[in-house]
Amino acid sequence: MIDRENEQLPLAGRKTEDVPGHWLLARLGKRVLRPGGLDLTRELLLHARLKGQDVVELAPGLGRTAAMIIAARPSSYVGVDEDKDAAAIVDKVVSGHGYCRTANASETGLPEACADVVIGEAMLTMQGTKTKQAIIAEVVRLLRPGGRYAIHELGLQPDDLDEQIDTEIRQALARTIKVNARPLTAASWCELLETHGLVVEWTGTADMALLKPRRNIADEGLLGTARIVRNLLRDAQARKRVLAMRKVFTTHRKSLTGIALVAYKPAARH
Ligand SMILES: C[S@@+](CC[C@H](N)C(=O)[O-])C[C@H]1O[C@@H](n2cnc3c(N)ncnc32)[C@H](O)[C@@H]1O
Repeated sequence: MIDRENEQLPLAGRKTEDVPGHWLLARLGKRVLRPGGLDLTRELLLHARLKGQDVVELAPGLGRTAAMIIAARPSSYVGVDEDKDAAAIVDKVVSGHGYCRTANASETGLPEACADVVIGEAMLTMQGTKTKQAIIAEVVRLLRPGGRYAIHELGLQPDDLDEQIDTEIRQALARTIKVNARPLTAASWCELLETHGLVVEWTGTADMALLKPRRNIADEGLLGTARIVRNLLRDAQARKRVLAMRKVFTTHRKSLTGIALVAYKPAARH
């Protein structure tokens, strides 16, 4: 299907009907796969303070943020993605500055206290409650005291969102994205980090505009957006799925948001 370069993409052999939404969008040419777009990522990276730091990125996907991290001149970069094809793509992106290993974010195999900053985008949302807990526990293990955990995820709003709407959104996301995505309210994201002893120091939000034309032009450029549209026009199955995803995002636009947080690991008390 579609462009030749997509032969290298993760799950290249999986049918359009079943492939997780992020890899479907990647096949169509999309490279920025997080809810708040590149602008929220830029803000997140500024607040994470990367220069001269040892940085671990969880779930770098196609390496779009990895390239921005390298441009911020960290002391070192290690990516960890569970998909071996994604890890190979990121390895090339960061070549000469770091590497990407194939591992689960909850068990990275990296040594304790090896990182000043851990970054993860559009990954925790995709995990159930237990796995979210396991990944954050691993992040706390990796961070040195004073180190920062920076995330960019799908948020729900307001903090007291009706439970029934929350359930409807989860079901609609599972049906259309084919991933059991579990977005949280800002209060719940903070609570989740805080139960692991992290202290939230910054929160930012941006519209959840992953499939809106203006966001795509900002994130993918005019040519990139034209390529995505051309690919959509050529592929009826992919178009059907993307329209179904867009319908969920539009129906629930008031309740969905892109959210980013930076939390630090306090120094141990003696
Ligand atoms: C939605 S993409 C996000 C990619 C990138 N961070 C971005 O925002 O554009 C999700 C990525 O998370 C990776 N991933 C999902 N669960 C993971 C886990 N438990 N451990 C490591 N990687 C994971 C997938 O392989 C994929 O590369």
